[in-house]
Amino acid sequence: MIGLLRTYLRPYVAPLALVMVLLLVGAIGNLYLPALNADIINNGIEKGDNGYIVRTGALMLAVTGLLGAASIFAVYWGARVAMGFGRDVRSALFGKVETFSQVEVNHFGPASLITRNTNDVLQVQTVVFMALTVMISAPILIVGGIIMALRTDVPLSGLLLVVLPLMGLVIGLVMGRAIPMFRAIQAKIDRINQVMRETLSGVRVIRAFVRTDHEARRFDDASLDLFDTTIRVNRLFAVTIPTMTAIFNLSTVAVMWFGAYRVNSGAMPIGNLTAFLQYLTQILFAVLTAVFMFILIPRGAVSAGRIREVLDTEPTIRDPESPIVLGPEDRLGTVEFRDVEFRYPGAEQPILRGISFTAERGQTTAIVGSTGSGKSTLVNLIPRFYDATEGAVLVDGIDVRQMARDDVWSRIGLIPQKAFLFSGTVATNLRYGDEAATDDELWRALEIAQGRDFVEQMEGGLEAPIVQGGANVSGGQRQRLSIARALVKKPGIFLFDDSFSALDFSTDSRLRAALARELGGATMIIVAQRVGTIMNADRIVVMDAGRVVGIGTHRELLADNETYREIVYSQLSEAEAVA
Ligand SMILES: Nc1ncnc2c1ncn2[C@@H]1O[C@H](COP(=O)(O)OP(=O)(O)OP(=O)(O)O)[C@@H](O)[C@H]1O
Ligand SMILES: [Mg+2]
Repeated sequence: MIGLLRTYLRPYVAPLALVMVLLLVGAIGNLYLPALNADIINNGIEKGDNGYIVRTGALMLAVTGLLGAASIFAVYWGARVAMGFGRDVRSALFGKVETFSQVEVNHFGPASLITRNTNDVLQVQTVVFMALTVMISAPILIVGGIIMALRTDVPLSGLLLVVLPLMGLVIGLVMGRAIPMFRAIQAKIDRINQVMRETLSGVRVIRAFVRTDHEARRFDDASLDLFDTTIRVNRLFAVTIPTMTAIFNLSTVAVMWFGAYRVNSGAMPIGNLTAFLQYLTQILFAVLTAVFMFILIPRGAVSAGRIREVLDTEPTIRDPESPIVLGPEDRLGTVEFRDVEFRYPGAEQPILRGISFTAERGQTTAIVGSTGSGKSTLVNLIPRFYDATEGAVLVDGIDVRQMARDDVWSRIGLIPQKAFLFSGTVATNLRYGDEAATDDELWRALEIAQGRDFVEQMEGGLEAPIVQGGANVSGGQRQRLSIARALVKKPGIFLFDDSFSALDFSTDSRLRAALARELGGATMIIVAQRVGTIMNADRIVVMDAGRVVGIGTHRELLADNETYREIVYSQLSEAEAVA
């Protein structure tokens, strides 16, 4: 936690110093008031000096006013610093997560990353806020209180020797048990978020499979688990706080008891007894605040640890130190796989092995293969979502690992297998590819993607709202919008990962015809399950269990490739296949 605080509080040194000064002023004022009070009793009331009472009373009033002002400003600035700190940490986390590749995201899990950026930051931010408003003054009040108590009456101060260690003992015992529980609580909040996320994103599957009860139970379990631990922590503190109060009340009684003897024997003026009581109250109250802080600190420390874990994770896929920069004239439009092997992190077996082929400029290269044969994995290596474990993937003749990722990404238009839309409007989604695109260009892209008709029918046309994840358009419409989005970007290389699967056959063929007509110069890599989609490709790469088992045109493969023939004849009749 210290490291995190040191880094992210640095910009706030000036307001922090101000808060400290204000708190110091406040603490000194608090320590001064009982002394004035004692003066009024000892020198004013006892001696019947009205003038002294009024003068000292006015001073007390002034000190109180100053105190009030100081604490208002202290809280104001403390809050500003704490909130600013929280904002900075959140944006640092967000920035870091943006650099993560799939590997790191999967390592933490999206749910945990969300908790870390919200709840965990909140915990640390609360500690900072409490620290700046109460914690800093606690030690001043404790030490100052002890000094003032000693000045007021030394023998009576002996009581502190009993009370303070007793409190220390109780605090120590509580903390030893509470810290591990707080760690468990944060992990359990993660779990709840994870179940919640899965339920929300899989809501249709859950209903269709009549698993609503099952999911509700899963949530209940996670929720109960958190409940149990939280209850245990609260039970612990439920015992602690009355214990503290009891210690506090017993000490007051003891002060009155022994103090009365000393006043009676004339060893101590009565005003000092009042002052002493007030100091005792201040000291023990400060200790209680400190305890309250101790409830927050371990929790904050756990959260800070979880935040650091994310901030300290270096993405496995990074831009090279000195990337090769290519000009627009170098856009060869080629994608080459050179003896590529790929193994998912932690997996025993490679998913792809010995993949070599080139997608030439202006040509359509199709990739077919049974489900799970590694087609999407292969496509993901081109934009560096993952890096090949052996061999190399080259875009425009350069190893993608030697280029800046922005550069690689600007060269390709990816239409992922799971079409994803952002919340906003049709237009904002399409302009994701190119912010400066005109409405005409958007309509043009929609026309090629066969999306013009349905967008025209949507209320608002280009300005029609799209909800989160694109849930208010159909699967096929979503695919066409995500194709149009890539078209707006106008890259030299298109990667279609099964992007036509949700289209009916005639839309599919119209779309492909439009693509061929409009994007003659672009390189296209099309992954598909449907033979009809890829039959006319310039070159077809046949995949089976992570290997390339054949490359050629439809005719060539049909003649001599067993795997390809199997795929074809499972979908088409012999007559259709050779047509
Ligand atoms: N993130 C991942 N971690 C580990 N293994 C994975 C991961 N993603 C995919 N796999 C495995 O890699 C293999 C190939 O998956 P991939 O998604 O590339 O298949 P595909 O050919 O695109 O299939 P489909 O036609 O169904 O889309 C599968 O056996 C899958 O279990
Ligand atoms: Mg796939």
